[in-house]
Amino acid sequence: MLIAKGAEATITRENETIIKERLRKGYRLPELDEKIRKRRTALEARLLREARRVGVLTPQVLEEEKTRLMLEFIDGMKVKDILDAGNFGDIAAKIGEAAAKLHGYDIIHGDLTTSNMIINEKGLWLIDFGLGFVSKRPEDKAVDLYLLHEALESTHFDVMEQAWKTILASYKAHYGDSEKVIKALLDVEKRGRYKERSG
Ligand SMILES: Nc1ncnc2c1ncn2[C@@H]1O[C@H](COP(=O)(O)OP(=O)(O)O)[C@@H](O)[C@H]1O
Ligand SMILES: [Mg+2]
Repeated sequence: MLIAKGAEATITRENETIIKERLRKGYRLPELDEKIRKRRTALEARLLREARRVGVLTPQVLEEEKTRLMLEFIDGMKVKDILDAGNFGDIAAKIGEAAAKLHGYDIIHGDLTTSNMIINEKGLWLIDFGLGFVSKRPEDKAVDLYLLHEALESTHFDVMEQAWKTILASYKAHYGDSEKVIKALLDVEKRGRYKERSG
């Protein structure tokens, strides 16, 4: 069953397995395209495994092929669909904790939006490390948080201010080196606002 077809991949589900197949990009030279897709697929698998190892809930990688991953299907609700005034406190705290754990081990998710988070009785799961990478730089971690903030602003405006406070408090509580990231985040925000003003 086809679940999603994004810019980067098609997602199908067969029973308890998710198949994520990276799409060919017609505008790239075929050989280069294959190389890029293979590299992204391998990196996504590695990041999913590493995140899991450092205590963040992520789907198990069941099989890894050239441009295709078989992943454990996570049964739950997309945070995007359920975040509201009644539940954001607990969920926001979990989001902050998950981001802190990733960043503590230099894992940058790359697309921290509420579409890439699933919640169920086990907790908050992060999926889609397709834009992820490894970096020690506070600036890269700050951009991860900035994108999350932007996503909240555009999809959960009603609860966003409170949720963001809770996320940051939880992030700081779970990441000893968060100060440098928060400082870098202020710079990223400044640049963001400047960009908006100057078109
Ligand atoms: N392991 C999984 N368990 C359950 N649903 C998943 C899983 N992986 C992907 N999905 C569903 O498919 C959608 C797209 O997958 P995602 O990995 O985010 O790809 P894309 O790069 O296209 O955003 C997700 O938003 C989610 O609804
Ligand atoms: Mg996604």
